[in-house]
Amino acid sequence: MPDQSSEFVTGTVLVADDEASNRELMTELLSLEGFDVIAVPDGVAAINELNKTHPDLILLDVLMPRMGGLEVCKRIKSNPETFLIPVILTTSLTDKQDRINGIQVGADDFLSRPIDRTELVARVRSLVRLKQRTDELERAEAVLFSLARSIEGKDPYTHGHCERLADYSAILGEALNLPAEQITALRRGGVVHDIGKIAVPDSILLKPSALSEAEWELVREHPALGERICAPLKSFRLVLPIIRHHHEKRDGSGYPDGLSRESIPLTARVLQIVDVYDALTTKRPYKKALTVAEALLMMKEEVSKGWWDPHIFNEFERLVRNGTVGVKSHGAIAGL
Ligand SMILES: [Fe+2]
Repeated sequence: MPDQSSEFVTGTVLVADDEASNRELMTELLSLEGFDVIAVPDGVAAINELNKTHPDLILLDVLMPRMGGLEVCKRIKSNPETFLIPVILTTSLTDKQDRINGIQVGADDFLSRPIDRTELVARVRSLVRLKQRTDELERAEAVLFSLARSIEGKDPYTHGHCERLADYSAILGEALNLPAEQITALRRGGVVHDIGKIAVPDSILLKPSALSEAEWELVREHPALGERICAPLKSFRLVLPIIRHHHEKRDGSGYPDGLSRESIPLTARVLQIVDVYDALTTKRPYKKALTVAEALLMMKEEVSKGWWDPHIFNEFERLVRNGTVGVKSHGAIAGL
């Protein structure tokens, strides 16, 4: 493993402190280490600056006029746009309660006053390095997502399919009490599950008539190929089974592995219920969109045939009927 301590790390640091001497000291110390520093005198100014400059780290004094550091930290950590930005709270060495409160609002680290130069630089460097690695990962995910969306974009009939799948399968996963990391995997899976279709020619994807056996064979390769495309990304570990198995059927007649019943991963069974529903309620070149009632009826028949998980389908039907899963603008005629 490379020696991380010798790695040169820079970035933008936002300092919020009401005492000018503290702001000056931290600005000087961090600037000497190559960081760009923006210093503000209170919490409201920190929030305003945060939205403008997107810093790599924020140093917050706990006691400040207008808005204290704990409230600023709470806002940063409860906003999906900013919660990955590391926050260091500066507190007096003796104030244990500040630290407990800080942990509760999601602070990443603490720094005791009086500020020790070496400690400040070490903590800032370490958290900025971590933040930049997370940014790299996010960029890799963003590439996969835009690739998936560009595949979807080739087919005007599936417009918005990825987003609906991400939303509906997360709602269904929550209703089934799946753990948070599986819900995240379902959201990602909703977007990228068909990414393997990159290898299927448009002439097949957009064909207005039935596919030949050879064409079907090509289509059936998309789950395994999609899994291979996403496999290098460690954060997609829980998404891979969803991608690979979203076309399996409970009776073993699906693809690519012919898995049956509970050997099909639970998250894949969740996504496929939503995927099938969305496909049925979407207009295609060779078929009209079914109404919600027609789609549910057809899926119920398919559950009886042994295709879909009955428990998951029942839960999904309940969510559709009580309006939790809505009908967005994808051609379906609402009405049960
Ligand atoms: Fe698929």
